[in-house]
Amino acid sequence: MRFAGKRAVVTGGASGIGRATALRLEHEGAEVWIGDIDVPNGQALADASNGRIHFVRTDVMQVADIAALMQAVDAAGGIDVVFNNAGAGGAREKIDAISAEDWDRTQNLLLRSVAMGIRYAAPLMIARGKGGAIINTASIAALQTGAAPTAYSVAKAGVLHLTTMAAADLSQHNIRVNAVCPGFITTNIFTSALGISGDKRDAANGMIGQVAAQAQPLQRAGAPDDIAAAVAYLASADASFVTGTHIVVDGGMTIGPRHSWDPNAPTMFSALEVFAQ
Ligand SMILES: NC(=O)c1ccc[n+]([C@@H]2O[C@H](COP(=O)([O-])OP(=O)(O)OC[C@H]3O[C@@H](n4cnc5c(N)ncnc54)[C@H](O)[C@@H]3O)[C@@H](O)[C@H]2O)c1
Repeated sequence: MRFAGKRAVVTGGASGIGRATALRLEHEGAEVWIGDIDVPNGQALADASNGRIHFVRTDVMQVADIAALMQAVDAAGGIDVVFNNAGAGGAREKIDAISAEDWDRTQNLLLRSVAMGIRYAAPLMIARGKGGAIINTASIAALQTGAAPTAYSVAKAGVLHLTTMAAADLSQHNIRVNAVCPGFITTNIFTSALGISGDKRDAANGMIGQVAAQAQPLQRAGAPDDIAAAVAYLASADASFVTGTHIVVDGGMTIGPRHSWDPNAPTMFSALEVFAQ
C-alpha cells in the first residue's frame, strides 16, 4: 500500500499502459483520476472501482481540459502523483513528406501535452507544499531510430529533455520528475495507428508477441503491467532520491546490435572469418 492516502492523475488511463498504471496505483492505495478522450472505457473503469477511480473527460491537446483535470484533483485534497501518459502514434510520414500541420499535431499530442500537464499540476503541488512525483511516458523511440516514425520519435526525445529540465525547475519543491521509456508493449496503440479494429485487432495484437520474440533479447511481448510497475516505483517513496532520469523497460531492445545478444547473428568478424584461414 505504497500510495495509501495519495491522489494520482493518469492521462490516457482508459487503455493500455495508463489503464494498467491506474489500476496498479489504486491497488496500492491511491485514489486515481483518469483523464482521457475515451469516455466509454474511462467511465467503465471508474464505475467498476467502488469510487476509488474517477474519470474526467480530458483532451490533452486542450490546455483548458488539462487545467480542469488538475484543479479537480487539487480540490479533492491535493495532487501527489501525475502520470503524463496519453498518446497515439501521430503522423507517420518521413521528414521529406510530412506537413507542418501534421508535425504540429503530433508535437502537441505527445510533447506539449506533457509540458502542459506539468505546467498546470506543478503550481498546485507547490502551493500545497508536500512535494510529489511526476512521471512522463517517453519511449525507446526517444533513444534511437527504428522504433517509431520521425515526428513521434522527436516528440518523445523532447519528453526526455523536458523531464530533466522540469526536474531541475521543481527540485527545490521536492517534486521529482522522471520518465519511463517503454519498448514494444501490447496495447491498442499499433492497431489504432493502422486503423485495425474488431476481430482483427486481437489477432494483430497477438502478432506483437511474435515480432517481439524475433526483434528483442527477452522473447516475449511487453505488457502494460511491465510499465505500470516502473511507474509505480518512480511514483513511490522507494524512489524518493530519484529525479531527472528515465527507466527503460524494453525487454533489452536497446541493448545494441543483434549479434550482441543473438549467437546466431553474423558479426563483421564472423563474416570475414572465411578469409582469415
Ligand atoms: N505500446 C507501446 O509499445 C508504447 C511504446 C512506447 C511508448 N508508448 C507510449 O505509451 C503511452 C500510452 O500508450 P498505450 O500504448 O497505452 O496506447 P493505448 O492506445 O492503449 O492508450 C492510449 C490512451 O491515450 C488516450 N488518448 C489519445 N489521445 C488523447 C488525447 N488527445 N487526450 C486524452 N487522451 C488521449 C487514448 O484514448 C487511450 O486511452 C503513449 O504516450 C505512447 O506513445 C507506448
